[in-house]
Amino acid sequence: MSEKSQKVIAANWKMNGSLELLHSLSSLPSSKNKIIICPPTTLICKSKEILPREVFIGGQNCNENASGPYTGEISAAMLYESGARYVILGHSERRSIFKESNKLIFNKLLCATKFKLVPILCVGEDLEEKNQGKAKEIIESQLGQCIPKDIDFDDLIIAYEPVWAIGTGLTPKIEDIAEIHRFIRDFLIENFGSKASQVPILYGGSANEKNCAEIMSISDVGGLLVGGASLKKKEFIEISKA
Ligand code: 13P
Repeated sequence: MSEKSQKVIAANWKMNGSLELLHSLSSLPSSKNKIIICPPTTLICKSKEILPREVFIGGQNCNENASGPYTGEISAAMLYESGARYVILGHSERRSIFKESNKLIFNKLLCATKFKLVPILCVGEDLEEKNQGKAKEIIESQLGQCIPKDIDFDDLIIAYEPVWAIGTGLTPKIEDIAEIHRFIRDFLIENFGSKASQVPILYGGSANEKNCAEIMSISDVGGLLVGGASLKKKEFIEISKA
């Protein structure tokens, strides 16, 4: 399967997981999908040693500066040096708990790409925005304000994660996922040109072994960004085969 048509299964461990979980995935079966594991930063080096060679590693965040006096922060170059090739940016937990703005996320994308990391940019509406019928407006402003104009779309992944679906067991209807993914694709092509026509758009939010195949079958869904279910070895193996 060509790189472009290959779907992506990305695992976001958040502030969970352990060396033990990593070891349990050392024999993760090979998959037709591209697998990206984003463990806590402390496990990235070990991930390179322990996980199968074809599995890619990602960070969950990076600082917007190249280096400097930012105690406790991790730079894009550090992630790259430790073996990460991807980085999740703009996750809703970073936006809501750590008050990350679109402008800050834009600067993080710039820094990540400068240091050769592929950003996995998360966008999505919260429950209130959904109920007010503002989902598309919110997603549009996140995409418009977080993506640098001259970004290389071969080195970018978008993840649509409706905030109300994260960790709740709720998922949008299949037709709603399809509609939003189509909307994101159209917005990107309109604003960045045809180079955006192939960018993978992942779905995230309560993806699990039961719903993964149906969600993956939607034509504009380029894969999944999996939280809770990625912490369960057997379930994640099933999802990785979707
Ligand atoms: P859950 O799969 O636990 O809903 O989390 C989704 C997520 O936030 C992935 O980034």
